Amino acid sequence: MKGIVFTEFLEMVESRFGVEMTDVILEEADLPMSRGAYTAVGTYPHSEMVSLVTHLSGHSGLSVPDLLKSYGEHLFGRFHALYPGFFRDGGDAFDFLTSIHEVIHVEVKKLYPDAELPSFLCSSPEPGVLRMHYISSRQMQDFAEGLIIGCLKHFNQSSTIEKELQPDGTTIFLLRKGETDPTIISPASDHE
Ligand code: HEM
Repeated sequence: MKGIVFTEFLEMVESRFGVEMTDVILEEADLPMSRGAYTAVGTYPHSEMVSLVTHLSGHSGLSVPDLLKSYGEHLFGRFHALYPGFFRDGGDAFDFLTSIHEVIHVEVKKLYPDAELPSFLCSSPEPGVLRMHYISSRQMQDFAEGLIIGCLKHFNQSSTIEKELQPDGTTIFLLRKGETDPTIISPASDHE
């Protein structure tokens, strides 16, 4: 997992929970490769992210899925600041989400050849509906959901999100464009 995912996570922890919390989780988490020292361009085991989030959950009382979701939402805003080039094409949130797999993550892979990126197979079963099939051995569906929410908010697009966990560990997100208040996003419902 690329270092930028860790450095941005630790910056968010510091600004939301404070520097002491950051030090505590870095001290307690199992970080055999990094020893808690991350650089944005380095690559570190996904298990270190799991350990950091698990310890943050233990100390904050917030669940691991909620923490990953809010981190994803936060990170989308950071991507906008860090990679403005990906936001120049116009279009709406559904256009942007549809382009993740074949455009954005392809460019990310050129920047970071060792990035481990998920697959998002997108289709539109009917007008105003986007189906995203998320496939990744890392199974970060809560993080993905947060990124999707961040994207919808960025484009000021109201949409409901349904999340269907599949027996094979992959996840289908069904997004339906809303018709009213663009700031209201319904919480995802789990069908497990
Ligand atoms: C400008 C927009 C984006 C950029 C620059 C970007 C870049 C990245 C980078 C650098 C990683 C880390 C790869 C690694 O750890 O090796 C990543 C992972 C990931 N990205 Fe994106 N991403 C963007 C938008 C999105 C959006 C909107 C979604 C949600 C649909 C998404 C879903 C994910 C997920 C779920 C992962 C974790 C890896 C996994 O699940 O296997 N990304 N992305």
